[in-house]
Amino acid sequence: MRRPTAGIIRTPRLDLLPLRVEHAPEMAELLGDPALHTFIGGTPLEPSALRSRYERLTAGSPDPAVSWLNWVIRHREEERLTGTVQATAAPAGHGLLAEIAWVLGTPWQGRGIAVEAARALVDGLGAQSVHTVIAHIHPEHRASAAVAAAAGLAPTGHLHDGEMRWQRVLVP
Ligand SMILES: CC(C)(COP(=O)(O)OP(=O)(O)OC[C@H]1O[C@@H](n2cnc3c(N)ncnc32)[C@H](O)[C@@H]1OP(=O)(O)O)[C@@H](O)C(=O)NCCC(=O)NCCS
Repeated sequence: MRRPTAGIIRTPRLDLLPLRVEHAPEMAELLGDPALHTFIGGTPLEPSALRSRYERLTAGSPDPAVSWLNWVIRHREEERLTGTVQATAAPAGHGLLAEIAWVLGTPWQGRGIAVEAARALVDGLGAQSVHTVIAHIHPEHRASAAVAAAAGLAPTGHLHDGEMRWQRVLVP
């Protein structure tokens, strides 16, 4: 089975671009709002800390069986980065299971960008031997639940560290 990779994914309005360390300064400004951490914990990172994080992410997982796939979401017409999507893929059964997540900068929220990006992400993973996609979402996080539902995931009823596991089986 080929390891999945993060290639460029195009949608009507967006380019999902493989994360690069050079994205850190613009992303640090974009992700500087503490409100983004209401449901995911933590606090915004300083540009230098975000750069270090992106260096670790782009270096890849130390476990060769696990793939860290990270994209920035670029609004093509407005020529700005708007957020990130990510997937962590690992072997499970006869294929790969990927855990996905998303973050949109506050000024870009409420424009359907997360839905458009998440749908394209799931389609792209399905084309790369991923048979199951999961996400963990706080039960009160209505916007994120709506994103997951729009990407075809459904709540499983399983709570993990206070978050609901959502799942979509791509290849039954
Ligand atoms: C979750 C998040 C990515 C949604 O991004 P977004 O671009 O605003 O989402 P969209 O515009 O695509 O809208 C998705 C849905 O959420 C709904 N929504 C948006 N803001 C909402 C809010 N504050 N409350 C309830 N629903 C909301 C939209 O109506 C839409 O639902 P619909 O398709 O049924 O109309 C964004 O809020 C975010 O980055 N939050 C902080 C980080 C985070 O929590 N990430 C997720 C971890 S699981």
